Amino acid sequence: MRPLRIALTKGRLEEKTVELFERIGYDCTKVREKGRKLILPVGSGEIEVVLAKAADVLTYVEHGVCDMGVVGKDTILEHGGHFFEVLDLGFGRCRFALAAPSGCDFYAGYAAKTIASKYPNVARRFFEGKNMDIRVIRIEGSVELAPLLGLSDGIVDIVETGTTLKENGLAVVEDIVPISARLIVNAASMKLRKQEIEALTEKMEAEIAKKA
Ligand code: PRP
Repeated sequence: MRPLRIALTKGRLEEKTVELFERIGYDCTKVREKGRKLILPVGSGEIEVVLAKAADVLTYVEHGVCDMGVVGKDTILEHGGHFFEVLDLGFGRCRFALAAPSGCDFYAGYAAKTIASKYPNVARRFFEGKNMDIRVIRIEGSVELAPLLGLSDGIVDIVETGTTLKENGLAVVEDIVPISARLIVNAASMKLRKQEIEALTEKMEAEIAKKA
């Protein structure tokens, strides 16, 4: 049988997951010394780590080419998909928020607002919940620029420390939802490799509980 394949979101979540694997006893030397390699063995080869972009983690897990994945709740909320979300890993904590230029009354006036976001689905759903008509413009990054340049009235984005907003003259209007890294599992793998997946999930869960 091939190793249990786990897709990790490259970057900060990858680093935190590798730390967690090490704490539960898996040798992650190959991942730490990866160079440009994207598929790497962990432990004595019973696990294989796949390094991918956040949205692609969902795709690989949904299609079953990876059994499990570590991805932010932000990506799950934006893209959705068919998989099980089995564990809140507790790291990568931040939140989705609506932000606008400091001191402005975002909700003033009747004209439909324009919102810039890397997460158009999250933004649309948030305003649908308020029965507010808005226009969403998709931006790829540094969304804070959009209201500064006059492209939008506000942004829906990830806020962690709030520094980026503050340094650009923006402020949170409303928090939308808390975010953290999640462990997800392919539906078929959940049946076919139940024991391995449950054992690993339980080990991770116990380790996270220790730290909390
Ligand atoms: C995220 C987010 C904010 C920033 C928030 O951006 O989009 O810009 O972090 O963090 P803070 O509240 O601690 O300042 P990221 O670094 O992921 O880059 P991006 O803007 O290019 O998406």
